[in-house]
Amino acid sequence: MNNFEFYNPVRVLFGEGQIAKIVDLLPDNGKILLVYGGGSIKMNGVYDQVLEVLSTKSFVEFGGIKPNPEYEFLLPAIDLVKSENIEFILAVGGGSVVDACKFISAAANYDGDDPWSILSNADPVKSAIPLGVILTLPATGTEMNGNSVITRASTKEKFAFSSPEVFPQFSVLDPTITYSLPRSQVVNGVIDAYIHVIEQYLNYHESADVQDHYAESLLRILKTEGGRAITFEKPDYNNRANIMWAATNALNHFLSAGVTVDWTTHMLGHELTALHGLDHAVTLAIVLPGVMKVMKEVRKEKLLQYANRIWDLSGSDHSGIIDQAILNTEQFFIKLGVGVRLSDYGIDSSTIDQIVSRLEKRGVEYLGRAGDLKLEHVRPILESRL
Ligand code: NZQ
Ligand code: ZN
Repeated sequence: MNNFEFYNPVRVLFGEGQIAKIVDLLPDNGKILLVYGGGSIKMNGVYDQVLEVLSTKSFVEFGGIKPNPEYEFLLPAIDLVKSENIEFILAVGGGSVVDACKFISAAANYDGDDPWSILSNADPVKSAIPLGVILTLPATGTEMNGNSVITRASTKEKFAFSSPEVFPQFSVLDPTITYSLPRSQVVNGVIDAYIHVIEQYLNYHESADVQDHYAESLLRILKTEGGRAITFEKPDYNNRANIMWAATNALNHFLSAGVTVDWTTHMLGHELTALHGLDHAVTLAIVLPGVMKVMKEVRKEKLLQYANRIWDLSGSDHSGIIDQAILNTEQFFIKLGVGVRLSDYGIDSSTIDQIVSRLEKRGVEYLGRAGDLKLEHVRPILESRL
C-alpha cells in the first residue's frame, strides 16, 4: 500500500425526512443561492420542502441547470453570486447541479482572467463559497467529494477539476427523493457508481486489503441491488438506500487512498458525451469492456481477482476466466437496459478518429493515471466497441 493522506469533511445526513434538519446548518443572516435543475424537484415535492426550510432565510434562486452542465450557462450565476453577495450555495439535484454549484463557488472567488482555466489548465482553487447539497440522484459521488465536471458547449470539451475547497459542508441523502427517478436514471446511477469503483480497484495488486475488500463489497451490492431495483413495481426503501449509500462510498476518496487509480474509462467517456451528448453512465458502459480487454495481460492478476470475487469464476484457464468476467460485466449492463456498443447509438469509426486527433492536439500521452495506457491504446479500446 502506498503512503496517503485522507481528508473528507462532508457531514452526511442520511434517511427519510432529513431535509428539515439543514435549517441549522445554513447561515442565519447571509444570503443563500438556491440552485436546481430542469424542474424535477418541483414535481416530486422536494422544492416545497426546501422552501419550507428557507422560509426564515434570505435567498435567491438559479434554476435550469441541464445534464452535463455548461460553462456558458453558469457564467450569469457567477455574476449573481457577486452582485447579490451570496454567502452560501445550496445545490438541490443530481451530479450536474452539484458540479455546477462547485464550479460557481470556485469561479466566484477566482482572481484570474477566465475561470475556464480552473478546468482547462488545472488552475488552483484558492478559496470557494461554502456549499451544501440535497442529492436527488445517487450516481456520481459528488455529494461527498471535491470533484466537479463541466462542459464547454462552444468547443465541445468536458473537463474535471478537483479541490478540497469545494467539498460540500453537508449532504442530505434521502432515498425517498429518488423514487421519482425514471428507470433509466436509476440504472445510470448504478452503472456510474459501479465503474467508479472499477476505476480505483481494477488496476494492480498492491496489498491494499481494506481498499480491495471495500471495493468488492460495493461492486457486489451494486450488482445485486441494481438488478433488484428494476424488478420492483414500486420503489423499495432499503433497495434505494443501499444503492444511494453505495454510490456515495464509490467516490468519496476512500477507495483511492494508497492505491494506483486509472480513470481511462471516464476520460474516453467524457469525449463521447462532449461529442454526442450521450448520458455519462452510458458512455462508461460502452468504453469499460474495451479497456478491460486491452489491459487483459498487464492487469491480469487484478482481473482474475475481480473474476473470482465478483463473478465467482475460478480454474486454471486464466485467459478464459478473464474473458468471461468481461462478458459478465457487459451482460450486467445490458440486463439493466443499456446499450454497450457505439453502434447502439449510431456512432461510427469517424468518432474514433476525432477523439484520437483531439487527444493528440491536447498533447495527451497517457490515458488515465495508472501509466500503462497510452494514446496508441485509444483506437483498439474504441474499435472493439463499434
Ligand atoms: O434537471 P432535473 O429536472 O432535476 O432532472 C434530472 C436530469 O434530467 C433528473 N433527475 C435528477 N434527480 C431526479 C431526477 N428526475 C426525477 N427525480 C429525481 N429525484 O435526472 C437527469 C440527470 O441528472 P444529472 O444530474 O445530469 O445526472 P447525474 O447525477 O448522473 O450527473 C451527471 C453529471 O455528473 C458528472 C457527469 O460527467 C455529468 O456531468 N460526474 C461527476 C462526478 C463528480 N463530481 O465526482 C463524477 C462522475 O464520474 C461524473 O463525471
Ligand atoms: Zn462517473
